[in-house]
Amino acid sequence: MKAIVCEAWGPPSSLQLQDLPSPVPAPGQVLVRTRVAAVNFPDALMVAGKYQFKPAFPFSPGGELSGEIIAVGSEVRHLKPGDKVVGITSHGAYAQEVLVEASHVIPLPEHTSDQALELAGSFVLTYGTSLHALKDRAQARAGETLLVLGAGGGVGLAAVEIGKLLGLRVIAAASSPEKLAAARALGADETIDYSREDLRERIKALTGGRGVDIVYDPVGGDFTEPALRSVGWRGRYLVVGFAAGEIPKPALNLLLLKGCALVGVFWGEFVRREPALNAENMQLLFSWLHQDRIHPLISRRYPLAQAPLALEALLGRQAVGKLVVLPQQLD
Ligand SMILES: NC(=O)c1ccc[n+]([C@@H]2O[C@H](COP(=O)([O-])OP(=O)(O)OC[C@H]3O[C@@H](n4cnc5c(N)ncnc54)[C@H](OP(=O)(O)O)[C@@H]3O)[C@@H](O)[C@H]2O)c1
Repeated sequence: MKAIVCEAWGPPSSLQLQDLPSPVPAPGQVLVRTRVAAVNFPDALMVAGKYQFKPAFPFSPGGELSGEIIAVGSEVRHLKPGDKVVGITSHGAYAQEVLVEASHVIPLPEHTSDQALELAGSFVLTYGTSLHALKDRAQARAGETLLVLGAGGGVGLAAVEIGKLLGLRVIAAASSPEKLAAARALGADETIDYSREDLRERIKALTGGRGVDIVYDPVGGDFTEPALRSVGWRGRYLVVGFAAGEIPKPALNLLLLKGCALVGVFWGEFVRREPALNAENMQLLFSWLHQDRIHPLISRRYPLAQAPLALEALLGRQAVGKLVVLPQQLD
């Protein structure tokens, strides 16, 4: 089987396409023929050696996928070859075959179409993160106002759509008309182009000076301070990620003055520590997907050999919604 392989920390261009033997599942694992591998920020951080978890070399990046099971380990009872599944793993999905722990596999109905398999394999991480952030961490209530930074990216766009489903008024902020159009299409009530407009002034105008109830921040960097200053009384500021690279150090007096809370969000750790609540969230997300109530956007598809270009596009701030790699297409 073919796989994209990382042999040393570096930029996406240092990744290589290689021929590897088929992996053999350990007793608690399954082997999946990968149909779709989602492109996520941690994949790029892992290749650069900047992620909290560093796999041993050589490894393939890719932590989210869907496909069909080819083989199961000796202790796996509830899954069988031929089953269509979504898999979450730390790495390995930018490959035609990938090993996944059976406990990290979500079975899909037998009749799942190729299109549905593609969506299912690329929305769990972003929508799972944003649902956990808004429902469990911010405890969002219908009628509240939500500001989403990086609203045209993976987790941002998911936050826009889930925010609307939870009954929130959503203000989407992003750096280009294309990203803001994507946010509008998924229900954003208002948009702010923070590459041209003053974030704080626009929020003031859009909220009648009251500020927003919830900020969803996967970006960090220069926008965090004006966004935090735009939080209203008893607001919640969700710390989701630092795509801009810089980890902001906000002044704590702002929290005091607004009676507001800084709230950390770490979906991977939530999945590990609170599996029952995560299972409920997954059930809700899949029911929304089947009922056509959420519409995850895949804006570009890359054959396996071009996976490095997908990671470069993500790092270059070019991705709208999700990018995916199709491992069964070579180039
Ligand atoms: N806490 C968790 O559990 C969790 C889960 C998943 C992801 N994350 C984190 O959330 C962040 C976003 O992930 P994602 O998958 O949504 O990524 P993404 O699709 O690339 O979106 C990130 C957005 O950040 C903005 N951005 C600003 N400066 C940037 C820069 N220098 N490089 C790249 N993007 C920049 C871009 O929007 P504009 O161009 O509009 O500014 C971009 O659309 C990452 O840091 C990721 O690690 C956290």
